[in-house]
Amino acid sequence: MINALRGMKDTLFPHNEVYMYVIDTCTKIARNYGFSFIETPILEETALFKRSVGESSDIVGKEMYQFRDKGDNDVCLRPEGTAGIVRAFIQEKYDKAGLSKRFFYHGPMFRYERPQKGRLRQFHQFGAESFGEANVREDATIILMIKAIFEALGIGYTLEINSLGCPACMPSYRTRLVSFLESVEGLCEDCERRKTTNPIRVLDCKNEHCQTLLQNAPLIVDHLCPTCQNDFETLKSILDRFGMVYRVNPKLVRGLDYYSKTAFEFVSSEIGAQSAIAGGGRYDRLVEFLDGKPTPAVGFAMGIERLMDLVKMPESKREGYYIAALCDEALPSVYTLVQQKRAIAQVLTSYEPKSLKNHLKAADKFYVKFCVCIGEDELANQTVWVKDLESKEERIMPIENF
Ligand code: HAM
Repeated sequence: MINALRGMKDTLFPHNEVYMYVIDTCTKIARNYGFSFIETPILEETALFKRSVGESSDIVGKEMYQFRDKGDNDVCLRPEGTAGIVRAFIQEKYDKAGLSKRFFYHGPMFRYERPQKGRLRQFHQFGAESFGEANVREDATIILMIKAIFEALGIGYTLEINSLGCPACMPSYRTRLVSFLESVEGLCEDCERRKTTNPIRVLDCKNEHCQTLLQNAPLIVDHLCPTCQNDFETLKSILDRFGMVYRVNPKLVRGLDYYSKTAFEFVSSEIGAQSAIAGGGRYDRLVEFLDGKPTPAVGFAMGIERLMDLVKMPESKREGYYIAALCDEALPSVYTLVQQKRAIAQVLTSYEPKSLKNHLKAADKFYVKFCVCIGEDELANQTVWVKDLESKEERIMPIENF
C-alpha cells in the first residue's frame, strides 16, 4: 500500500468543511479590506527564494524541496508565498506603474522540516500582500484585518510586535550587536554560525542558555532612527485605539530575511509548541532586491492547519435537497429534476430506486433540508412527494410548482 509522504496530509471530512470555512471567512474579510485574489505557481526558480527569504535562513539553508527539472533548471517547491507574489508584481510591471496593489492568496507551501504536531512538510497558508503603501497605517490595517479574521473564526491569540529598523538605523545597530556577541562565550552552534551570517537572528534563539547569555544584548527598539521610532509609536497608538492587545517583543526577528520596520507574530497558547498561527511584517526593500523599482510593501500569512484545531464552526444548518426515485420508471424524471434544481441549490441524489424509508435515511445522513421522492403515483399525477426534515411537514405538490 502506498501512503502519503511523511509530514503531508489528506484533508477529508469533517476537516474539509473547516478548511473551506477558514478560506471563505478569510476571503470575505480580505475583500472587505480591498484585497483581490492572486494565484502564483507552486514551482519557482530556486534563486527567487535564495534572494528573498535569504540564504542564511533555515528555510533556504535546510528546508527547501529543491531539484533540477528535466530542462536542468534549478527549481523548488515554494516554501512561502511572498517571494512569488513579489516576482509576479515585478513581472507584470506594476512596480513601474507605481500603483498600489493588494493581493490575497491561499495554497500549499513546502518545507522539509521535522514533522510534529502543527508542523507539516506540506502545509497551507492564507496570506495577503500590500504594495505601494509606505504609511505605517497600512501595517496597522493588516494587523486589524487579522484581528477581524480571528474574531470571525472564534480564535483566541496574543500578538507580539517589534520594529526591525531601516537602512538608516539597522546597520549601526547591527555593528553594536556584533561587538556585543563577540564578547559573549558559550553560544550554541546555530548562534555561532548566525553571528556572521545574520546576527539579528541570534536574538530569537530558542536555546535557554543562549537567552541567559543574551540578557544584556543591545535591542533594536532602543536604537531606532526618528522615522522608525515615530512609525512604531503610530502603530502602537492605532492598535491601542482599536482595542488590540499586544506585547512589544524586542527579540522578535522572524525567520525570513526580508523584513524591515514592522514585524509581528500572532501566537496561540492552545496548540502546543508550534504556537505561531500568523506572522508578517513590512518588507520595503524586497521589490528592489528582486530587480524591481523600489516599492514599499507589507503583508502576512497564517497557517491554516494550525488554525483548524482552534476554529469554532457555526452551528451547521440543514441545507439543500435530496431527490430520488421510488421505482425504475421514475429515474429519468428524477435525473431531469436534479439537473434543473442544481442551477439554484445544492442537490444530492441516488441513481437507484429504493424504498421511501431508505431514501429518508440517506437524506438525513446528507443533512439536507428536504427529501423529495417520485414514485408510480407521483409519475401518473405529475407531482412530487416532499418532506421538510426540519419541521417534519410532508406534502405532495405539482412538479411544475416544485
Ligand atoms: P512564516 O512565519 O514563515 O511567514 O509562516 C506563516 C505561518 O505559516 C506561520 O505563522 C505558521 O502558522 C504557518 N507555518 C509555517 N511553517 C509551517 C509548517 N511547517 N507547518 C504548518 N504551518 C506552518 C511567511 O511565510 C511569510 N511569507 C509571511 C509574510 C507575508 N510576511 C510578509 N508577507
